[in-house]
Amino acid sequence: MCGIIGYVGTRDAAPILVESLKKLEYRGYDSAGITLLNENITTYKTIGRIKDLEKILKDNIKGNIGIGHTRWATHGVPSTVNSHPHNSGDISVVHNGIIENYLNIKEQLQKEGYKFLSETDTEVIAHLMHSKLYGSAKNTEKTCDLFTALQQTLKELEGSYAITTVCSSEPDTMLAARKDSPLIIGIGDGEYYAASDVTAFLSHTKKVVFVDDLNLVKMQPIGVEFYDIDGKLIEKETTTIEWDIEAAEKAGYDHFMLKEIHEQATSVHDTFAGKLSELDGSVNLEELNISDEEIRNIDRIEIIACGTSWNAGLLGKYFFENFAGIHTDVDIASEFRYGNPIMRKNVISIAITQSGETADTLAAVKSCKAYGCSSIAITNVVGSSITRVVDSVLYTRAGPEIGVAATKTFTAQLIVLYLLSIRFARARGTINTNEAKDLLIELKRIPGKIQKILNRKAEIRECAEIFAEERDYFFVGRNVNYPVALEGALKLKEISYIHAEGFAGGELKHGPLALLDEGTPVVAIATKGHVYDKILSNIKEVKAREARVIAVAEKGDTEIEKYVDHVLRIPPTHEMLAPILSSVVLQLLAYYTALARDCSIDKPKNLAKSVTVE
Ligand code: F6R
Repeated sequence: MCGIIGYVGTRDAAPILVESLKKLEYRGYDSAGITLLNENITTYKTIGRIKDLEKILKDNIKGNIGIGHTRWATHGVPSTVNSHPHNSGDISVVHNGIIENYLNIKEQLQKEGYKFLSETDTEVIAHLMHSKLYGSAKNTEKTCDLFTALQQTLKELEGSYAITTVCSSEPDTMLAARKDSPLIIGIGDGEYYAASDVTAFLSHTKKVVFVDDLNLVKMQPIGVEFYDIDGKLIEKETTTIEWDIEAAEKAGYDHFMLKEIHEQATSVHDTFAGKLSELDGSVNLEELNISDEEIRNIDRIEIIACGTSWNAGLLGKYFFENFAGIHTDVDIASEFRYGNPIMRKNVISIAITQSGETADTLAAVKSCKAYGCSSIAITNVVGSSITRVVDSVLYTRAGPEIGVAATKTFTAQLIVLYLLSIRFARARGTINTNEAKDLLIELKRIPGKIQKILNRKAEIRECAEIFAEERDYFFVGRNVNYPVALEGALKLKEISYIHAEGFAGGELKHGPLALLDEGTPVVAIATKGHVYDKILSNIKEVKAREARVIAVAEKGDTEIEKYVDHVLRIPPTHEMLAPILSSVVLQLLAYYTALARDCSIDKPKNLAKSVTVE
């Protein structure tokens, strides 16, 4: 997730772009840059935040048209050279999204003589546009106009993008386009804005046009025009935004947590985008520095993490053991680092940390390295400390998470673990092509299924409000749903301050049942699978003690209704993927409970987003 901005008008663009980027900084803040259009293109960019960009901007840089970007790295570490805008000749481009086929395009353009400076996927857009506009790297005579060059470029891109671009050979024009990444046009008085969200220009205009997928926008001081991908002019409706700036930063949601819960259809998709081939059931993890032979020789996986990331690790154990047949242990980092683990050659460690900065996880991973084990990190922050101590880094592509409670980074971690386990399974021959294809095809359906849950959030809210004043909450699950129960309880306790505990269903009778009072809410994660009957028995067990049961169950399961008080539905899916969907339900349950209790949702008391001390 990054933030893009473009301005066309009669005022000096530089200060407007900088102010807009500050508003977009929550979308990414590892580097930033702008291009001003005058007789030439003049680009300023730097690693760091917008305040660092301001320091390198020269006074009196002129230009009434310009584009800008604030970055959250996905391809290539945070660095000045990887920051946007990316230029090719007289063309400058900023981009938010992921170009999935960039490597193929890059290879082709390199053969044609284009020199790449960065490791980003975005740079291919600039060079591809140049090759369309001038026919070759060396040519200086235009073969078409900028609009046609962009249109032809978009037809070759696979993946997601919101783009703004300028070219000094057309000094009164800025173009924009989108597919699967947000792009909003602000309509001012003789001036136009293109941005990732309305906050960027809300202090200048409240009149906006929401751009649809595969639409192109041409902005000039004299007006704005919208086109479809075939170049046909289209009519668009202008809307007036009623939000104030604070609400707009959260895209109209009351809290960052709710916004981030809603972003999961996209973040899950972005995390697997470009890595699947359903044709041969293969998973492409080019960042993984382990050969197939080494994968075949793995004796044991040691997963290390804290908090929500540890819960993701527990799910990873089911993936690795079921798909790849590899014995997997999951340890809490703060325990592991002071333990006496049996680490031998052929044990591989996987550290999971969204921030990449958790002190205990870093220390634990360093100790694994000292045992000579190969190490992998799964993190959301490119260039974070963990990335410098491991052998391979697999990134979740969730974008910055501002709410202290992890939501979209958790589900993105599950996606990476799922992909990695299938990758291992293919190398070890524990699943065949058809089985892998089925797993990947179902994975591709998950974003749509998350969206279906989000569309029915009112039912979850209603349920949350019924139990919002309870003192204790139980969460129970079995097999893959056991970590879901733990994560559901963690989410509820940290933001609503209700005492909540997660249990493995089979453990209830070994102690926890003593805590059950009449009416205690028990959330049972009861999705279909090989232990479905077992969780039904646990539900009967707690009902016999007069608990009130909320089941998370699949649509179409009518059996469950006979035994429970409330049912929260998820769309049916593969047993191993159901935890992703159930977790979205439990995040919403926690959120609406905390809302009803008027808690400080984005900043719960006593907690910090990144725990960099022991
Ligand atoms: C809970 C939560 C924490 C983190 C934990 C580890 O919602 O966010 O439990 O999961 O502090 O943080 P990372 O993943 O950054 O290592």
